Amino acid sequence: MVNEIKNLKKKKKALILAHNYQIPEIQEIADMVGDSLALSKAAVEVEEKIIVFCGVHFMAESAKILSPSKKILLPVMEAGCPMADMITEDKLREYKMRNPDTAIVCYVNSSAKVKSESDICCTSSNSLDIVNSLEEDKIMFVPDKNLGNFVKDKVKNKRVELWPGFCITHHKIEGLEVDKVKEIYPFAEVLVHPECNREVVGKADFVGSTSQIINYAKESPKEEFIIGTEIGVLHKLKKENPNKKFYLLSHRLICVNMKKTSLKDVYYALKDEKHVIEIQEEVRQKALGPLNRMLNL
Ligand code: 13P
Ligand code: SF4
Repeated sequence: MVNEIKNLKKKKKALILAHNYQIPEIQEIADMVGDSLALSKAAVEVEEKIIVFCGVHFMAESAKILSPSKKILLPVMEAGCPMADMITEDKLREYKMRNPDTAIVCYVNSSAKVKSESDICCTSSNSLDIVNSLEEDKIMFVPDKNLGNFVKDKVKNKRVELWPGFCITHHKIEGLEVDKVKEIYPFAEVLVHPECNREVVGKADFVGSTSQIINYAKESPKEEFIIGTEIGVLHKLKKENPNKKFYLLSHRLICVNMKKTSLKDVYYALKDEKHVIEIQEEVRQKALGPLNRMLNL
């Protein structure tokens, strides 16, 4: 299967991008593995006209918004992000009518339609810089209340309101679980994703995107780490740091949507050039503004 994928990739001059949460086999055949921001940027910069995006729907959609002339393929169309579905463009429009002087900061884990109603996008690696860059004092952060809280606790002189969305994988982890794992591994540093709730974030030594966590562990002189994000990151962490030890904060840190893509799906995506991500041009144009504003910053 791996050889078949490699041959097809060469024949079709395609590129495979994979998110840090994909299963190890997919990470191994990918041309690039990264966080949401890095993958979106890569989709724009690479020459290949066919991109197989191994991740969830909003990620492939962001790539399409930024690179409309490329064929963006999502191997499993049902691989979505439940957090992205916790907000709709209609609900956001209603909020905007009631709060015309509030800037909408939109986490990339959202649909193209929701992005199109927002002022600027952010990812988990740049959310604080993005909010700090805004002139407006009033901010509505959508759709992740946990990433929003992380920003709210750090930003000065701004009123940050939070949309009540959350990641079903990260949000359920409790502070008590951090205490328990720390008791077992007292010398380990705790690295968590900002999609975790405030209690967990408050107990962490470092909070960052998936790639920021991976880079932090590489640079740190410490030898043991408790990882508070999806299990998929362990692959790169262990591969790049064979002498360090990594313990998953909870065995429940599995995103079922990120695990839907198999090698077989990648093979058929390449062979049959499916499933093609399409966005209405009017929506794409409107969503491009907030994404570009983020990338320019
Ligand atoms: P990153 O941008 O940190 O890779 O996160 C994406 C995501 O969906 C986290 O749950
Ligand atoms: Fe969405 Fe959470 Fe899965 Fe990330 S881990 S894709 S936020 S459900």
